[in-house]
Amino acid sequence: MSDKPQNTDQKPQGFIRRFLALPSDSVEKTLFVALSLCLVASMIVSAVAVSLRPIQEVNKLKDKQINILQVAGVYDPSKDVLEAFQAFEPQVLELETGLFTDQFDAATFDDRAAADNPEISIALSDDPAGIGRKSKFVTVYLLRNEDDSIDKLILPIHGYGLWSTLYGFIALEANGNDIYGLQFYSHAETPGLGAEVDNPRWKVLWSGKKLADAQNELQISVTKAVPAAGAEYHVDALSGATLTSVGVHNLVRFWMGEEGYAPFLANLKAGDI
Ligand SMILES: Cc1cc2nc3c(=O)[nH]c(=O)nc-3n(C[C@H](O)[C@H](O)[C@H](O)COP(=O)(O)O)c2cc1C
Repeated sequence: MSDKPQNTDQKPQGFIRRFLALPSDSVEKTLFVALSLCLVASMIVSAVAVSLRPIQEVNKLKDKQINILQVAGVYDPSKDVLEAFQAFEPQVLELETGLFTDQFDAATFDDRAAADNPEISIALSDDPAGIGRKSKFVTVYLLRNEDDSIDKLILPIHGYGLWSTLYGFIALEANGNDIYGLQFYSHAETPGLGAEVDNPRWKVLWSGKKLADAQNELQISVTKAVPAAGAEYHVDALSGATLTSVGVHNLVRFWMGEEGYAPFLANLKAGDI
């Protein structure tokens, strides 16, 4: 028989038992609970984000289609968007030649991804729109009359404002010079200031304006004062948001100029489209 005293307090314990034995308000337990909560919450958020992504993509596409319908003046909220969108003919346009190409599927071509693909995009040295790179190909949308002639052209445009890149569409009449409408579907300008680009009272100012004059000089401008070219080429800058307005001026002129749609519009005017 051993004469050593038996001390039960000294009995070796596992990590879990020792942890459970700690008081509830110990630093270890508090940290454990906080970290566990963070982990579980982040797993739930990630799972929800991943599972909702396909729905978000569908909604994003639908939102873009609604914007195309709106800028073309044919949006009817009571009608199915997908069905109404069937009226539009998407075409992938090669900006440099100003001609349509069938190298890509127009229904699925991703303009934004293309701008990041070095094989089909170029870095801009002269970059008034503040976009860094430009895809050589963009998806444009044609709205045709019943006799198959072009009614309107819907051209994507984008460029930097004050805080963000504004993405939108400009709708042109079939003559390729008269503006039917302009609308942005994505930006992060300040509500009440730069975000007034979404105000219907400002958007309507674009309707009926002309891009270029009789000599085919690009004249469209978004400025505070009416320039010498005249009011038919001018849209008032947003008050209290001159910097966003300068961004819109620059991006519209970039996309309507030689780096953008000018070759396409020249082909259109020459009857080659
Ligand atoms: C918090 C904050 C947000 C602003 N957001 C915008 C904006 O989105 N777009 C813009 O052009 N100016 C914005 N401004 C104002 C600009 O700093 C600048 O004052 C304005 O563009 C000048 O326009 P004005 O010459 O018409 O007054 C913001 C200013 C502040 C303080």
